[in-house]
Amino acid sequence: MTLDEIAQLAQDGLTPNYSRLPVAFIKGHGTRLWDTEGKEYLDFLTGIAVCGLGHCHPKIVAALQHQAVMLWHTSNLFHNHLQAKLAKRLNELSGGYKCFFCNSGAEANEAALKLARKVGKEKLGGKWKIIAANESFHGRTFGALSVTGQPKYHKGFEPLLSGIKFVPFGDAEALEEAIDEETCAFILEPIQGESGVKVPTDDYLPKVAEICRKHNVLLVLDEVQTGMGRTGKLFAFQHYDIQPDIFTLAKSIAGGFPMGAMLTKPEWSELLQPGTHASTFGGNHLACAVALAVLDALEEEQLVEKAKRMGEHLMAKLRALNAPIKEVRGKGLIVALEFSQPIAPKVRDECLKAEPIGLIVNAIGDYIIRFLPPLTVTAEEIDQAVEILQRAISSTVQTQ
Ligand SMILES: Cc1ncc(COP(=O)(O)O)c(C=O)c1O
Repeated sequence: MTLDEIAQLAQDGLTPNYSRLPVAFIKGHGTRLWDTEGKEYLDFLTGIAVCGLGHCHPKIVAALQHQAVMLWHTSNLFHNHLQAKLAKRLNELSGGYKCFFCNSGAEANEAALKLARKVGKEKLGGKWKIIAANESFHGRTFGALSVTGQPKYHKGFEPLLSGIKFVPFGDAEALEEAIDEETCAFILEPIQGESGVKVPTDDYLPKVAEICRKHNVLLVLDEVQTGMGRTGKLFAFQHYDIQPDIFTLAKSIAGGFPMGAMLTKPEWSELLQPGTHASTFGGNHLACAVALAVLDALEEEQLVEKAKRMGEHLMAKLRALNAPIKEVRGKGLIVALEFSQPIAPKVRDECLKAEPIGLIVNAIGDYIIRFLPPLTVTAEEIDQAVEILQRAISSTVQTQ
């Protein structure tokens, strides 16, 4: 099928809620993708931090193929050896957290919000209100949307959940001021991804943890984008000496197979008794087989450590660009380049159009380019990507 045929079919059959760039990919391997015309691209977005091991990693392909002819799904009415094994692995890797499996980031955050409410009501004297951060992104379901601090996403869907207050991200004092005797939880991303890779100062999360502890407020970390090694630790909170009460994962947990997870301290997990919460698909055999293979590959190929090294290499290369740069920031392989001129969408388009090899990056607003390459990315691929980017920037700046 040609791109035009695909676009026509999409227009005929799909709701128009996505604005799509004019390309369709049909094959992927590692950091590389190929489109309908056979053109090659370097993928520095990986389906928005989903394909953490790159495309079609042999270990996860093998796990998927093996499980595909064995057993897919039996529901949570029965025991599931793969789900139990995956929970045990995550339990050990996180320092004792218990797992609830679901299918997406929003769904993981719904579980976290519901559990926080239940803990507040039953263990913290009836507390129920939630604080969230401005500019945050937690998903599109009503609960997750209610704690997403971007009014543009709320528009047309109000009224949302009540009892939600927003505070500036990175400002621990503002959090302390916002807490009242009815506050049960504070939810935030360790690094804000969708709003432009906002990295807080190193003392922010420890201060937040301290404030939450002092006021008996649950700390809920949304690691949907930062989790599974992307920042150079398996979970971003492990950069600090803190332990959230609850944290959530999705995106790359199963390398591109849809999956989410909510992890909670054991003392709160007791509140999720049978009947309180559930997901039909959550943690089925196929998803868990793939997620176990992802963990194996992360360990065997030491990809978490590699993410840290490659992230430093990428950021050093970006800082050396000949470009109107305001800032390069990030942690591991979640990286942003912020321009001092509004050229990000044009640069993104030029990267995509580049010949003979295109580069896939994400533009956030007019100034920011976000990079989320796979954790398997090599230094050579980073060098090649930055060369394509330099050409895209130079031609954009020249034509201004
Ligand atoms: C930090 C964060 N939380 C939650 C979500 C929502 O995840 P999903 O789209 O899988 O529902 C996203 C998606 O981009 C995210 O970046």
